[in-house]
This record gives sequence, C-alpha cells and structure tokens, in this order.
Amino acid sequence: MPIKVNLASSDPLSLAVDVLVIGVPEGASTGEGVLARLVEALGESVAHQVKRDDFTGKRDQSVDFTTRGALKPGRVLLLGLGSGKLTDIDVRLLAAKGARFASGVRAESVAVVVPPGVERAERSAAEGLVLGSYRFTRYFTGDRVPKFGLARGTVVVEGKPGKAARDAVALGQQVGEAICVARDLVNEPPNEMYPEALARVAAEVGKQHGLKVTVFDKAALIKRGMKLIMAVGQGSAREPRLVHMIYAPPGKPKGKLVFVGKGLTFDSGGLCIKPAQGMEEMKGDMGGAANVIALMAAVAAAKPSVEVHGIIGTAENMPDGAAYRPGDIFGSLDGRTVEIINTDAEGRLVLADCLAYARALKPDLIVDNATLTGACVVALGPTVSGFFSNREDLADRLRGAAKAAGESMWQLPLVDELRDGLKSDWADIKHTADRWGGAITAALFLREFVGDVPWAHVDIAGPSMASKPYGIFSKGGTGHGVLTFLRLVEGFTG
Ligand code: BES
Ligand code: MN
Ligand code: ZN
Repeated sequence: MPIKVNLASSDPLSLAVDVLVIGVPEGASTGEGVLARLVEALGESVAHQVKRDDFTGKRDQSVDFTTRGALKPGRVLLLGLGSGKLTDIDVRLLAAKGARFASGVRAESVAVVVPPGVERAERSAAEGLVLGSYRFTRYFTGDRVPKFGLARGTVVVEGKPGKAARDAVALGQQVGEAICVARDLVNEPPNEMYPEALARVAAEVGKQHGLKVTVFDKAALIKRGMKLIMAVGQGSAREPRLVHMIYAPPGKPKGKLVFVGKGLTFDSGGLCIKPAQGMEEMKGDMGGAANVIALMAAVAAAKPSVEVHGIIGTAENMPDGAAYRPGDIFGSLDGRTVEIINTDAEGRLVLADCLAYARALKPDLIVDNATLTGACVVALGPTVSGFFSNREDLADRLRGAAKAAGESMWQLPLVDELRDGLKSDWADIKHTADRWGGAITAALFLREFVGDVPWAHVDIAGPSMASKPYGIFSKGGTGHGVLTFLRLVEGFTG
C-alpha cells in the first residue's frame, strides 16, 4: 500500500508519529529554535550529539534522536537545509529523504515540517513523501516479505491551512503515485512486462483517470503501415503494440502537446546481441514509455487547460529465426525506407513510427523520451539526461522546466555535419552512423520523422534507472523526466 499523506498545522513536537522530520537552516545552534526545544525536552545528550556530529544545518547534514517517550514523536530527524533561498525542490528532497530514513527504521508514520515561505511547498512535500517511501517488493516471499511499511505521512505547516493547501497535498500525492507507476513498470521483470502487458497497464491507468486510450494491436500496426515497429518486434514471441492516450481538458484547449515514449520491454540487442554482462538491465528499456503513462496519470490529476497526448511504441527486441537482420530494408509509417545496420539500434526505429504518427496529430509540440543510447551516458554520466531540439525556444522551455522540476537535463547539439553518416547506398536512409557522437546521430535520425513540428528528444538512458538511491530517486526505475514534462505541460500557455 502506498503512503497516505495528510496535512496538519499542530505543534510538530506534539504529533504522535514514528518519525518527525525537520529541516534546519545553516547556522542553527542548540541555544535557539527547534534545537533548543529538543535539548529542553530530551536533555543535554542532544546538545552533545549535535556537537559531536558537528551538525550546523549544512546541506546534506543529518542527525537523529530517539525521544524515549519524552516527546510524542518516537524519533526526530534533523536535516540540514544549507544557506541558500529554499525552493519547492528542496522541500521535495527534504520530504523524500525523511521518508527514506523513516522506511529504513521501520516506521509506519512520518511527518515532515515544511519550511515557511516556500511556494508550492505543500504539493512538493507530499510528492517527496510518496517518492521517498517507494519500494518494489512484489516478488519477495517468506522472510523477504516486508513486515513494516510507511502507511501515513503528514505535511506540517504553520497557521491554519485552507482548501488550497489540502488540494495541493492531494495533488502532490497523486503526482508522486503516478511517478511510482513508472518506477514499478521499469522494475517489473520482462517475462511479466511484455508489450501487450504494458499496453494493458496504459489502458487501465487511462480508465482510472478518465483518459481516452486506443491500443493498436499487431493487425492494426500492419494495417496502418507501422513497418518499423513491426520489424523490431518480429523476432519476439510477444507482439508489439502502439498505445495512444488522450487527456482533453474541460473547455477549449490552449494547445496540443504530444509526449512519446520508447517502450522496449526487453532489449537483447536482437541478432546484434548485447554482451551477457548487465543484459538484465535492459528490462528497463521501456522507461520512456513508463514515463509517458505516469505523465498522463499526473496530467489527469493536475487538469491543465491543454490537450495532452501520450504515445508509446512497445516491442521486444529478440534474436530469432524470424528476427530482423542487418541489411534488411523496411518502409515506415512516414513512407521512407530504412536500411537496418545494427539491430541493437532498435529504439530509434520504434520511435520513428511513433513520431510520424504523432506528427499527423498536428500538435504544437512533440517531446519524445527514450533510453536510447549508451553514448549519452558516456557523455553526461548516469544522472543527467541529454536533450535535443529543432527549435531553440522549445529547448529553452524544456531547460526551464527541468530546472524548476529539479531534474538534471543538459542540451546536446543536433550537429548537421553528422547527418551524412545516415546516408544509405540501398535505401532512403540508414539508422546508424559510425561510433562518434552516437547520441547525436540517434537524434538526427529521429529528426527525419518529425517534419516541421517543434520537437524535443530526451535521452534518458542514464537516469531512467539508478544503481543506488539518490535525491528523490529510488534504486532501479526512477521516473526521471516525469516532473519535468509535467512542468512543461502546466506552464504551457500557447
Ligand atoms: N537501449 C539501448 C541503450 C541503452 C544503453 C539504454 C545503456 C540504457 C543503458 C539502445 O537500444 C542501444 O542498444 N543503443 C545502442 C546503439 C548502437 C547500436 C548504435 C548503443 O547505445 O550502444
Ligand atoms: Mn538496443
Ligand atoms: Zn534499446
């Protein structure tokens, strides 16, 4: 069960919770504020511990106390806030770290005190509590079934909170839960989460949130001419799918935005098979699609006044007698022919048909996201996404949205000189160039399929999964990208 978050305005030290989380600004001393109150209630040992740990409220510092019945909360966790001006990003992080700590000490309830004067703080605190308490334990049995779980979270604010604050907490909870859907989908094993299953989840999520969802099965993909999606999936016993989700706002929409996600439920590399080492991580090659499903759920909760479309192309890339080969040439939904060079560059093929489909919707913009290239991880490391755009103003918007959301994204150039590398002797275009600039040539290939529509491509190959928890992100699937895309949607004014 996910954590249920509520709102309170009582004195935090009188809340009956297992863990109370308080952010402490830099320069705090035991002579004043919450530290003074803790010394008063719990005795000099608090002052000793603060001194011994050299806790002064610097960013990332922490210290915790068990209250042994001297206060209502069972434990108090102090987290350093540093000295800069606080934003909703800091609040989300504070709540997430607090919830992660609380999970670690087997707490069932946690409360986080929201620092005053931060815009959107209630929503972010709720998001952080949900994101920080996330665990994926579905496949544990016996002793490994968790005996404890964080069930209740409280966002503590000063003064009497009104309806706006309560709505903000409710929305924060929904956004957090949506991101956890993306994490679950990435963490699910590929024998369970195959294309048809992913499409089923998208349809279920859509139904829960009142979205229109259309699933294109194999026959529909063939009928429509989505030959590249079919090619990638033809070596698998599992059929590919394309899913189209639509959120329509009440009233006249202020714009139409399309988000596209790569949904490779497993990427073995196909005939150009990947090395065995680390191949299990390729169950997460549907992180882009998972993000789109999560985004659509979050959008349905946030109810922005724009029309939002979510498109996912999903297939499994396997080696087989029926698998597609290097040298094969396929048509595409766009109409152009593509020569296959490396069957492990499958994501761009699936996306090409999705983008051609998206373009026909005549949107104001298209943003695709995909675990597309190892080269992007080489360039930016495992925690930063690379993005590309055919419009500088869209790149600026995306950069702004990522900054506001607290997700690390860095723009990379669409280097036109590299376009020559995609020239084919036998078809209109080939889908890979040489090794150098691999993230860029992948983006250049995608650009061929968007026409004149303002478009951005986000390569999430690094941050979509994490080898250990950091910030608001959990180990495994992170849902990195969803908060940025949601900001982009909420801030879209035409
Ligand atoms: N899904 C992979 C990219 C990837 C690598 C995602 C590591 C997450 C972590 C993608 O389909 C792929 O295999 N890309 C190739 C492209 C190459 C064959 C041109 C790559 O990056 O090596
Ligand atoms: Mn691949
Ligand atoms: Zn892939």
